[in-house]
Amino acid sequence: MSTTRLLHLALLSGLLPWSWASSPAETLHPRDDEAFSPPYYPAPAGGWLSDWADAYEKAYRVVSNMTLAEKVNLTTGTGMFMGPCAGQTGSALRFGIPNLCLHDSPLGIRNSDHNTAFPPGVTVGATFDKDLMYQRGVELGEEARGKGVNVLLGPVVGPTFRKPRGGRNWEGFGADPSLQAIGGSLTIKGMQSTGAIACLKHFIGNEQEMHRESSVITQGYSSNIDDRTLHEIYLWPFAEGVRAGTGSVMMAYNDVNRSTCSQNSLLINGILKDELGFQGFVVTDWLAQLGGVSSALAGLDMSMPGDGAIPLLGDSYWGSELSRSVLNGTVPMERLNDMVTRIVATWYQMGQDQDYPLPNFSSNTLDETGPLYPGALISPTGVVNQYVNVQGDHNITAHAIARDAITLLKNNNHTLPLSTSDSLHIFGTDAGPNSNGLNSCTDQGCDNGVLTMGWGSGTSRLPYLVTPQEAIANLSSNAQFYITDTFPSVTPNSSDIALVFINADSGENYITVESNPGDRTTADLYAWHNGDDLVTAAAAKYSRVVVIIHTVGPLILESWIDLPSVQAVLIAHLPGQEAGYSLTDVLFGTYSPSGHLPYTIPYQESDYPSSVGLLDQVFGQIQDPFTETLYIDYRHFLNANITPRYPFGHGLSYTTFTYSAPVLTTITPLDTAYPPARATKGSTPSYPTTLPNPSEVAWPSTLTRIWRYLYPYLDDPSSITSNSTTASYPYPSGYSTTPKPAPRAGGAQGGNPALWDIAFSVQVTITNTGNYSGRAVAQLYVELPSSDVLGVDTPAKQLRQFEKTGTLTPGESQTVELNVTRKDLSIWDVVVQDWKVPVDGDGVTFWVGEGLGDLRVECAVGGTCAVVDSVS
Ligand code: NOJ
Repeated sequence: MSTTRLLHLALLSGLLPWSWASSPAETLHPRDDEAFSPPYYPAPAGGWLSDWADAYEKAYRVVSNMTLAEKVNLTTGTGMFMGPCAGQTGSALRFGIPNLCLHDSPLGIRNSDHNTAFPPGVTVGATFDKDLMYQRGVELGEEARGKGVNVLLGPVVGPTFRKPRGGRNWEGFGADPSLQAIGGSLTIKGMQSTGAIACLKHFIGNEQEMHRESSVITQGYSSNIDDRTLHEIYLWPFAEGVRAGTGSVMMAYNDVNRSTCSQNSLLINGILKDELGFQGFVVTDWLAQLGGVSSALAGLDMSMPGDGAIPLLGDSYWGSELSRSVLNGTVPMERLNDMVTRIVATWYQMGQDQDYPLPNFSSNTLDETGPLYPGALISPTGVVNQYVNVQGDHNITAHAIARDAITLLKNNNHTLPLSTSDSLHIFGTDAGPNSNGLNSCTDQGCDNGVLTMGWGSGTSRLPYLVTPQEAIANLSSNAQFYITDTFPSVTPNSSDIALVFINADSGENYITVESNPGDRTTADLYAWHNGDDLVTAAAAKYSRVVVIIHTVGPLILESWIDLPSVQAVLIAHLPGQEAGYSLTDVLFGTYSPSGHLPYTIPYQESDYPSSVGLLDQVFGQIQDPFTETLYIDYRHFLNANITPRYPFGHGLSYTTFTYSAPVLTTITPLDTAYPPARATKGSTPSYPTTLPNPSEVAWPSTLTRIWRYLYPYLDDPSSITSNSTTASYPYPSGYSTTPKPAPRAGGAQGGNPALWDIAFSVQVTITNTGNYSGRAVAQLYVELPSSDVLGVDTPAKQLRQFEKTGTLTPGESQTVELNVTRKDLSIWDVVVQDWKVPVDGDGVTFWVGEGLGDLRVECAVGGTCAVVDSVS
């Protein structure tokens, strides 16, 4: 018997924790044939945390009185295109619970009208501005509420930019777990302050678009992740989102360690619900459910949009099949009660029982009237769009984000800011409108005109768009436009300045744009539409060239970045509806740029680890071992000692800042390597376990059935007897109904609350020493001690905190405080299964600066705290 097999048996029998499968040495390089996700049963019931006690109490009272049909209704979508939203559950109207509307997107209400198209996550990350992160969340929540969306499907904190070509990186906040965590949790808090339920997604390892999804003809890839990497990189932002109280979590399409996320018991039951203490409900990604009983036992609470293996056939893994498997005793009644209690408790937790609007829009059509259930083919019709304007003054936040994200990479000879009287020649279709009209491509699935967002479900329609062309034309007295990607015949004067607009797009796998099936397969990491050639051509004719880039992620700039006439380069990320004036604010110097790179820009693609390339394969399941472990993006560049073209966090300003008077203070002493013991779990709702009367899921005689709509009802429920199937049902190996001991790393939402004790605080004063007003971003990186202290290697530096100053006028100062928690200084100990710090913070060094290449302050625990000059 192989060692691996022995190990698996040991794990199954509970002799070893999962992660030893990932023993330090072995696990740090998981091999395809070792990837394995051990069973974790039963599903932990929700309701044991005081923060949710009232909501669970209310839910208990309601669920106690529900019929089986009402319970099943709330767990299962009514089917694809069977309502106004991307998905909707059935209802329990006797208790005032309507069909719950689940709808995209993380940047605005998708396929709707009179909504705001905010900049997406990557742009928000580039602002490094916590207030804007929160405020955008509030406004997204207000728009969701205004349209009657109960569950807004965002924010995205997975993918985490592991693969620079990955199609959906731009939906999240950047290539660092703490940046993702802070962006995600502030978004959740903002959204849920309005009563909308956030849906943190995609849990987990969905780092590439191609081959993400299993279906009847293909199997999605398996992201093979060792335990430590999972905890320290990919799980980190999810833990923070659970701590922020997210009401729901969406499972990813792919497998993790060869077990499909939507029925991976270790991920849902073990990590999310037990270790992270998640109290809300877990929902599939759309059509990602692959089994009925298996997913229920693994901890799934809601199936979306409800359909089975092939959509629109009117069948489901759940719905009436869930009714059947409860009646025949295969799915324990406790499990169904927990699913429903979690859903209803979340609804109460956000206050949706208090006048929450019903959907007043349809994502299926812009017409005022139409079919209520388009998936039914023959459907009752009615008013489906009330065109409710939910935009408020949200354009102000959208504009501020787009502006404060703009990242100045280079600015030779103070070329920027420009004057409105400068003679400007503007090149590139990326400066102009979509030549086929605003929103002419479904889900923004094309690259035509200024790139405001990527494509796919993470988009919304633009209510309007101010293009850079319009904004420049309105403000400049001397601009000529060449809205073409082929360099025209021009003869510039020596005083003319060329502004060249280029872009790079990506999106979700169900749309292919210019031969890129979501991921940037054919575009590589280069500008689209020969943008690099456009820059080079302009640089050959003009002595001053300013390049403006709208991009989903890193690009290789080497063919032109060092050309003498390329004087200034701005990354404007993906600006949403406010593309134009946010840019001119910076170009003409009303504001200094204050964005910073939320990822690294390398010299060449081969500088990344070879394991982060896209994977393609015709037959069999793709195995994607995360062999680079913790070392993605800048962690890799530091570890491999590879100098990037622009390091993570880089961003210049028109002004200059000095850092002074750094002070390191110990707040909560770290006198133990592991956090203090967790509190014991509180009680959870307890219902009778007797099986319901089968008549509760008999077809009601008064019901007018909609063809293909998913109902909880069965033709002859009384013929179903308990235990007839249970005896023969092939329960997953390791299945048990005896609760597991509470994991030591848990204890509250997100994990043991002591992990969030503030251990140290670094204070530093930042002074504007230049001639323009501007905002600095103090980024705090942690350097952990060498491997003899913690027993493992750690990345040389890791971002853990940041603070952005207000607008400082020349000469003005502000003192910022950067708080570092116990968790921020911890590694995940795979043997002990807990977070471990160097005791007293011994050997820890804090670095603070304007980017990884521009560190200004070094504070060693127990040593000195000093201003350094490490600009590189
Ligand atoms: C699939 C996407 O992966 C997910 O992010 C989205 O929320 C659903 N479709 C619903 O549109």
